[in-house]
Amino acid sequence: MGFDKKILGIGAGYVGGPTMAMIAFKCPQHKVTVVDVNHDRIARWNSDKLPIYEPGLDEVVQTARGRNLFFSTDIEKGIKEHDIIFVSVNTPTKTFGDGAGMAADLQYWEKTARQISKYSDTDKIIVEKSTLPVRTAEALERILTASNRGVRFEVLSNPEFMAEGTAIRDLEEPDRILIGSRETEEGRSARDELVGIYTNWVSEERIITSNIWSSELSKLVSNAFLAQRISSINSISALCEKTEADVTEVARAVGMDSRIGPGFLNASIGFGGSCFQKDILNLVYLCRHYGLEDVADYWEGVVSINDYQKERFVHNMLSAMFNTLAGKKICLFGFAFKANTGDTRESPAIYVARRLFEEKAHVRITDPKALDNARIDLQDLSDQISYVEDPREAASGCDAIAVMTEWDMYRDLDYARIYRSMAKPAFVFDGRNILDHKGLFELGFNVYPTGKGALTHF
Ligand code: NAD
Ligand code: UGA
Repeated sequence: MGFDKKILGIGAGYVGGPTMAMIAFKCPQHKVTVVDVNHDRIARWNSDKLPIYEPGLDEVVQTARGRNLFFSTDIEKGIKEHDIIFVSVNTPTKTFGDGAGMAADLQYWEKTARQISKYSDTDKIIVEKSTLPVRTAEALERILTASNRGVRFEVLSNPEFMAEGTAIRDLEEPDRILIGSRETEEGRSARDELVGIYTNWVSEERIITSNIWSSELSKLVSNAFLAQRISSINSISALCEKTEADVTEVARAVGMDSRIGPGFLNASIGFGGSCFQKDILNLVYLCRHYGLEDVADYWEGVVSINDYQKERFVHNMLSAMFNTLAGKKICLFGFAFKANTGDTRESPAIYVARRLFEEKAHVRITDPKALDNARIDLQDLSDQISYVEDPREAASGCDAIAVMTEWDMYRDLDYARIYRSMAKPAFVFDGRNILDHKGLFELGFNVYPTGKGALTHF
């Protein structure tokens, strides 16, 4: 059967895999191929055990794979045979040289651009899906056209706004699709072609267009605003703990103002994930590059508060448990950076586990989906860390439970039984405010929520 369009996705990670799978799922008339340099990842996309856990993803992949969705490591063939190329390669924070710890590391992205330039024999539309510094499209155009082989490339910016754990829902019913293009005839025509793909399942009023630089910048700013809300409420959680105010009540009261809105006001142990910190640091770096020191300082504060919140959590544990954790057994409930994902990139749990290790505590980690990644994240730490599948078993014999991830399963465990199995006095530190604090207190636990008064028997 012939296909209408041939669409390639370069990068089969958390974004490239689900995004391209959704396009294939919704557009059976188009052929979608996803390529990656990572052979193991591609093999897993072609297997029954997909490389990432995401609710609903298995069904989408199973429906489309082999029909119009294909996973391959043949990047050259992919570039040659497809007309629209989505680039979803990783753009982590640079760890070396100029801009280390702040700027985006664009080496994977640039390598991809060079490969596209090298292997393209026909005109292509290149879609930036990765999150990139503003004005990257300009550099991309330069690389693509440098070889000057008569092939035309039109670059579009189409940032991805999905969140992990809800990726399939977010892709199926996005708040908006943003497409940035050059305001030329070719730019508008490429943009219309991309709009045509999305209108297979997204209504036109949710598809917005802009100039290409606004589109690139909007992605960084969206993440910065979301993270800023979390740091704002987390900063207030510290004040609540000093004043007997309750952060949940404050967030509710504040969020009911329709100008503010209720989302993203859950006080926590701090935000994690591969993007918030990286994208804010990138924004800060860009501001400094343009000489906007005050603007850079303002946004850097969002990351500082996040670091403060993680350290504050450990400090609270230390002071509650008589200023020593040495030799104590502490069970971390959850290791993923949020519920419904196995992803642990930048998870606050990594920081907490390492700090507890420094304090010479014995750390036991439980998580329904993230234990494999946890083992990799902490592989340099020796025998003081153990990994236990079952949370009841993990907590048994421990001095404290610390909730790192808001998995639903932790809400309804038999805490009376867990309490009996633990060392006394037994502590709960709820970094997500998901447990029944009063109920736990009545069972005998000393309970330390986030941003509300502690309930203790001392
Ligand atoms: P990831 O690390 O999971 O996936 C990136 C993939 O690209 C990897 O599998 C890697 O092997 C592959 N790759 C790197 N260089 C390649 C090359 N030259 N050719 C072929 N494949 C190559 O990263 P991710 O989480 O999917 O993020 C990708 C981009 O999307 C980043 O810019 C990120 O900021 C952005 N983003 C991520 C999310 C998210 O929820 N994870 C959401 C929105 C946007
Ligand atoms: C985030 C954005 O929500 C997406 O729109 C964006 O596309 C993505 O980053 C990206 O660019 O990578 P994600 O990191 O997957 O998505 O997950 P979020 O739901 O945003 O959570 C991020 C972190 O903030 C988690 O650690 C979460 O637990 C924490 N969080 C979230 C809070 O502490 N409080 C809240 O109220 C909300």
